[in-house]
Amino acid sequence: MDFRLQTLAAGGLAGLAADALLVVVVGDAVPASLDAPLAAALKDAVAQGDLALKAAKSLYLHRVAGVKATRVAFSVAGDGSAKAFKAALASGLGTVKGLGVRHLAVAVAGGEALTDAHAEALVAAVNDAVYVYRATKPSAPEAPKLQRVSLVAAKAESAGLQKGLARGEAIANGVMLARECANRPGNVCTPTYLADQARDLAKEFGFKVEVLERKDVEKLGMGAFVAVAKGSAEPLKFIVLRYNGGGKTQAPVVLVGKGITFDTGGISIKPSAEMDEMKYDMGGAASVLGTFRAVGQLKPKINLVGLIPSCENMPSGTATKPGDVVKSLSGQTIEILNTDAEGRLILCDALTYAERFKPAVVVDVATLTGACVIALGHHHSGLFTADDELAAQIQAAGRQALDTCWRMPLDEEYDEALKTHYADMANVGPRAGGSITAAMFLKRFTGKFRWAHIDVAGTAWKSGAAKGSTGRPVPLLTHFVLSQGTSQG
Ligand code: BES
Ligand code: MN
Ligand code: ZN
Repeated sequence: MDFRLQTLAAGGLAGLAADALLVVVVGDAVPASLDAPLAAALKDAVAQGDLALKAAKSLYLHRVAGVKATRVAFSVAGDGSAKAFKAALASGLGTVKGLGVRHLAVAVAGGEALTDAHAEALVAAVNDAVYVYRATKPSAPEAPKLQRVSLVAAKAESAGLQKGLARGEAIANGVMLARECANRPGNVCTPTYLADQARDLAKEFGFKVEVLERKDVEKLGMGAFVAVAKGSAEPLKFIVLRYNGGGKTQAPVVLVGKGITFDTGGISIKPSAEMDEMKYDMGGAASVLGTFRAVGQLKPKINLVGLIPSCENMPSGTATKPGDVVKSLSGQTIEILNTDAEGRLILCDALTYAERFKPAVVVDVATLTGACVIALGHHHSGLFTADDELAAQIQAAGRQALDTCWRMPLDEEYDEALKTHYADMANVGPRAGGSITAAMFLKRFTGKFRWAHIDVAGTAWKSGAAKGSTGRPVPLLTHFVLSQGTSQG
C-alpha cells in the first residue's frame, strides 16, 4: 500500500481526483469549512435521516453532483482525537473497501490540525480494513484492490504527518507479521516456523540471530522450559534476536515473548471447546517478532534483544505430571501443580537468561492467563510492574499507539499464594487473582533488572465473527522501544 500526503489545489476537496473520497466529519454539525457540493450532500443525507452525525456512523454516496471523485463516503468522528479518527476511518473504510477503489483520498472536515498520531492511525485503520488471511485458505476472497491512500492535509501539517505515516507503515508491517504468525494453525506455526521467521527477519534487516536447541537449553539448566516441552514430539526452540542501533556500551531493552505454539494444557488438559484458539498462545512471541520488524524499518538508536522460548504444551507418556518438581535456570525449584500454567515456566527461564545482557529494562509479553481476560476483557492488556516510572512509560506508549494497557496490582501480599511444602514455589495459586499470582511468579525471576509484564490473553486475539489475531501489542511495544531510544541518546 502506498500512503502519501496530498495538499489541496485550487479546486478544493470537490475537485480532487481519486476513485473515492472519504471525508471524516469531526463533531455533530456539518463543518462550515466543507466545500459546497460536499456540504450540500452531507446536509441532505442528514436531513433525510440517512446519516446521523454520531461517532463512527458512516454513509456511502455514488457520484455526488459537483464532486470529481466517483465515490464519496462520509464518516463521523466524535472528537478530533486520533482515537476517534481511527474509529471513524474503520467505519468509513468498511463502505468503500469492497468496491473498485484503487486510489482513496481521505480528508478531515472540522476539528483541529492533524498530527502524526492521526497519520499513524490512518495507516493502521487501512491495513486493518484490507487484511485477509489466506495462508491456509487459498479460496478466501481476494484482498481489496486498494493500492494508494492519500491523506489530504495542509502544508503546515506535512512534516509531522509524514513522520506519522512512516511510523505507521513500519508498525503496520510488524502487526501484519504478528497476525500472520498467530493466525496460522499449530501444525504450520511450530517453534521451528517461528525460528525460521526470526532468521528471515535477521537476514532482511541485519539482525543477529541465534537459535538454541533442546540440548543447548538442557545444558544451560533451563529445567522449567524443558519441563513444558517434554510432552511434545515437536522440537523446542529458544530464539535470540539482536538489533544493535545504539552505542556499544548502551544497555539494551530486552523483549521476551511467550511462544507456546499450541497449548493443550498438558496432563492438566483443557476442555475441547475452543481449544483450537490455543494456537495463538504464541501471540507474545509473534509480537516480539513484529516489533523487530517495525524496529528494523525505523532504525532507532537503541539496542534491542528479543528472547522467545517456544514449544508445544502436550500431554503424552513423556509429559510433565502434576506434582513434578523441576529446577529453573535461576536455581529456584518449582512444583508444577498444574501443567496448564506453562507460560510462566518457559518465561521464567527466559527472564533469567535475560540477565546476561545487563538490560536497561526487560518487558515480557504473554497470553498468560484466562483470569486477565476476565479482569480486563478485550480492550486493555494487563500491565504488571512494581516500577512506577516504567509503568507510566509503558502506559504512555500504549496511549500514543492506540494500543492501551491497564496497570494491575503486584503487591507482595499476593506472593503468599505460591508457597508449597515441596519446592521454592508452586506454579499456581488459587483461582482468585490468577493473573496477579502469575505475574508474582515471574517477579521472582526479575531481581536483577527493571521489569514489566504484559498479559495479552484478552487483546492478542478476537473471538466471534471477526475471529483472529490482532497483532497487539506490536504498536505499544514499538512506541515503547522508540521512547527508550530518545531518552538514552
Ligand atoms: N494460554 C493460557 C492462558 C489463556 C487462556 C490465554 C485463555 C488466552 C485465552 C495459559 O497457559 C493457561 O492455560 N493459563 C491457565 C492458568 C491456570 C492453570 C492457573 C488459565 O488461565 O486457566
Ligand atoms: Mn496453559
Ligand atoms: Zn498457555
